[in-house]
Amino acid sequence: MDFPTVRMRRLRRNETIRSMVRETTLDAADLIYPLFVKWGTGVRDEVASMPGVFNISVDQLEAEGRELLELGIPAVILFGLPEHKDEAGSGAFDPDGIVQQAIRELKAKVPELYVITDVCMCEYTSHGHCGALDEGGCVINDVTLEMLASVAVSHAEAGADMVAPSDMMDGRVAAIRAALDAEGFTDIPIMAYSAKYASAYYGPFRDAADSAPAFGDRKQYQMDAANAEEAIRETGLDIAEGADIVMVKPALAYMDIIRRVKDAFAMPTAAYNVSGEYAMVKAAARNGWIDEQRVVLETLTGFKRAGADLILTYHAKDAARWLRG
Ligand code: PBG
Ligand code: ZN
Repeated sequence: MDFPTVRMRRLRRNETIRSMVRETTLDAADLIYPLFVKWGTGVRDEVASMPGVFNISVDQLEAEGRELLELGIPAVILFGLPEHKDEAGSGAFDPDGIVQQAIRELKAKVPELYVITDVCMCEYTSHGHCGALDEGGCVINDVTLEMLASVAVSHAEAGADMVAPSDMMDGRVAAIRAALDAEGFTDIPIMAYSAKYASAYYGPFRDAADSAPAFGDRKQYQMDAANAEEAIRETGLDIAEGADIVMVKPALAYMDIIRRVKDAFAMPTAAYNVSGEYAMVKAAARNGWIDEQRVVLETLTGFKRAGADLILTYHAKDAARWLRG
């Protein structure tokens, strides 16, 4: 059967019927809000390239956490700006490091908020790479695994609910799983940044976290934007190593990857709506060139339609407010 018997517009006539046949729903409960924590007290420094996103000190976390829960956002992912960076990135696994302090503060003051931590070395190393370097400036995979495992354990010891390795070393999920289990953290899940691309869209994040590599780039460990089948292999390996949730990052230019990963594995799948994606929307909105609310909700709905169950996004608070109406 087709036109004129079939008329697709019949089910678009008003909002009641449109909402009844709607396939995809967006809910604040699917959102994870990234938080950047830095040393000091009373600090709320806005990130220049990310309007509305702040580097905040530990004492600001309680208010932040309560606000998120009130908006119906269940979870945060923490990033830390250490007091000092060094060659070994020792601030990453210091029991009194910035993220460890932030975890303890949130779990003490806002225990219902679900605390996820980003596990990587680049915010803590003086050279800004995601692991230990050899003389040639190349990240040494297997040495870095030990560092990442100790970072993850230190986060779990501080009370993190979930860890999320973002480094793209081979074997990191297995190394972290083994280390967590050995320390008794068998129930702490791992959300793996599985298909993480070497992307220009991380620029504003690297401003926020002061984590741009001092030389070179991350192409020896993050993925080539041209590759899709490789994303399936990467994700399959992370699942085999014990990942509980898999992630695609960035999101906007990689919607096809989200769909392929979801179809291939039927795993809980996260999409990271990264800093550069946020910055572009904010810049256009500030110029009055787009309707920010409609663009953001359309984009987030697109990620879910593509197959994402969870979305990490700097728009989370605004989106939650708009969804509430
Ligand atoms: C750390 C990390 C990065 C992001 C999340 N974790 C930066 C990078 O890999 O350079 C980027 C997030 C964003 O751009 O919003 N490895
Ligand atoms: Zn990193």
